[in-house]
Amino acid sequence: MKKNIYGKYEPILENILGDLIKYIQAYSEQEKAKTNEMAYEHLIYRVKSTQSMIEKCQRKGLPITAEAALSDMHDAIGIRIVCRFIKDIYLNINYIKAMPGCHVIEEKDYIKNVKPNGYRSYHMIVELTEPYEDVKGRTPGRFFAEIQIRTIAMDSWASLEHQMKYKHDIKNPKMIERELKRCADELAACDVSMQTIRDLINAE
Ligand code: GTP
Ligand code: MG
Repeated sequence: MKKNIYGKYEPILENILGDLIKYIQAYSEQEKAKTNEMAYEHLIYRVKSTQSMIEKCQRKGLPITAEAALSDMHDAIGIRIVCRFIKDIYLNINYIKAMPGCHVIEEKDYIKNVKPNGYRSYHMIVELTEPYEDVKGRTPGRFFAEIQIRTIAMDSWASLEHQMKYKHDIKNPKMIERELKRCADELAACDVSMQTIRDLINAE
């Protein structure tokens, strides 16, 4: 087994991730009390495994160190918030932006700017000020997290597409790419219809 790339920062990352999840669950409960609907359908999260982080550092030509993993890379902590409706994505974004000690340093809106393959999702990198020393010796320290927010439909597409990437024996990849793109667009049209239906129900 490989030595943990995060060293003494490993438990700190777990703590920060735990607090982020508690914050997200708390605002969702608050939404539920207000509107009777949770802000999201489900959440997944992880501290990136040592194996994946080493691979990523190697891919980027960086040294295999906690410093590279926690200052050059911004996704050691990762959270995916899966929502039922498109508008819920923006609701979650607003709550996250309002979190104390949280500063958004990068936003990629692949919902407005769809990737050519059809991928849709909203990504943000946040910088968190935390009461622990960071890899640069600062206390309070700065830590990063990548938060991806998408609908169930976007998530199911991304999951299938991700699986295909690892299948190298596909006979007609161009045709498969085209079909995947078509499915992504159909799912996106469904997301819009579902949002419209919810708005109609809520307006009654
Ligand atoms: P990294 O060097 O990997 O951080 O690249 P980046 O910062 O340019 O990545 P980006 O923010 O676009 O995407 C990061 C993550 O989003 C990936 O690790 C995937 O989880 C997800 N993602 C991005 N593009 C795709 C895609 O085309 N298909 C799928 N299935 N997932 C994607
Ligand atoms: Mg990234």
